[in-house]
Amino acid sequence: MVDSPAAAPYTSAVTDPRNLYSTWVEVELEVIEANTRRLTALTKAAVMAVVKANAYGHGAIAVAQAAARGGAGWFGVARAEEALDLRAAGIGLPILVLGPAPTDRLPALIAAGVSLTVSDEVQIDAAARAARDQQATAKIQLKLDSGMNRLGAAPEAAVSLARRMGQHPGLSFEGAFTHFARADEGVPRPVHRQLEQFEHALSALSSAGVRPPLIHAANSAATLGWPETHFDLVRVGIALYGLRPSPAAPLPAGLQPALEWKTQLTRIRSVPPGEGISYGHEYVTRTTERIGTVLVGYADGLRRVAGNQLLVGGVQVPMVGRVCMDFCMVQLDRVPGAKEGDEAVIIGSQGDTRLSAEQVADRWGTINYEVTCGIAARVPRLNVPERTVWRPPGSGTQ
Ligand SMILES: Cc1ncc(COP(=O)(O)O)c(C=O)c1O
Repeated sequence: MVDSPAAAPYTSAVTDPRNLYSTWVEVELEVIEANTRRLTALTKAAVMAVVKANAYGHGAIAVAQAAARGGAGWFGVARAEEALDLRAAGIGLPILVLGPAPTDRLPALIAAGVSLTVSDEVQIDAAARAARDQQATAKIQLKLDSGMNRLGAAPEAAVSLARRMGQHPGLSFEGAFTHFARADEGVPRPVHRQLEQFEHALSALSSAGVRPPLIHAANSAATLGWPETHFDLVRVGIALYGLRPSPAAPLPAGLQPALEWKTQLTRIRSVPPGEGISYGHEYVTRTTERIGTVLVGYADGLRRVAGNQLLVGGVQVPMVGRVCMDFCMVQLDRVPGAKEGDEAVIIGSQGDTRLSAEQVADRWGTINYEVTCGIAARVPRLNVPERTVWRPPGSGTQ
């Protein structure tokens, strides 16, 4: 079954994307591969590439294939459909659904050899029933809540849940894991407090004679900043995409952003003073201004807020007026050479000028994660083997 937005189109750029699309995302898969390789070199643990939410907006299947080439040994997803999409695309490496899976999805997940997360007896028994019904073994991992207070069993319940698993011959207890709430703050205390809780549960399991093969805890920030959290496996999301977990958890050299988000100018007009631009006429021209209409809008994931900036002609230009569903307008007075059909960049570079996902996030009052995850499914993800280098007009071919 392939019914998730994770299956958004992922096409090779065989021609100038401007001839095919209004707005598009370019992902350099070689960068994902190199980032994965760099991350595997930072740890002795296995690397799980977290590719949930369509690989943070980058295109799950192509990213998973690139991460596998770079040495990832596991994939982490949030939803059952995401796991099944990866299997349907022929990805055979181990996959863990990091959250609870709906009961009716369990048979398909077990048949596909996908590992399930459980955190209570109801989930354990449901996995056992589904495994028994198809005479298969379900691989399950126990999620422990060491202080995030989102999902997972209390550390004190670990032994009794492990015993419950042991009562079901169709269950294979493959792993135990937890998740950090504050690993990205650059401060050791909150991480160590959670680690203590987790280790307490692990030693209780060990005293009861249970040591599942895989113990894991670290997200990107913990992988980069707290090697004592690595255990057998690290679960890396944001760093895989070359984006930093937070200002307090910067990336080491060698990890590069892989994604650029582009669009194009469709119409340029000189608008006389005193004219309103876009719905509500919130912006009114002060002088005669060159206003460009751009083929991207809030239905593509561009936030409907004031203050957006785009790159045109290697220059940051201000968006003016309200963002529409499929369009927005920019003021082009600083780019006299701009013409209809020119590329405009929402995230990425033109020449030496760059707009990062972090800059967009700051403007939107959010985090880089939300910016790339929020690029709509209708925006095609293009695999670019090598970045098209934008050059100023008159300096050769673009
Ligand atoms: C359980 C779990 N592990 C790992 C990750 C990856 O986190 P990050 O993208 O910060 O590396 C996430 C993402 O939110 C998660 O929910």
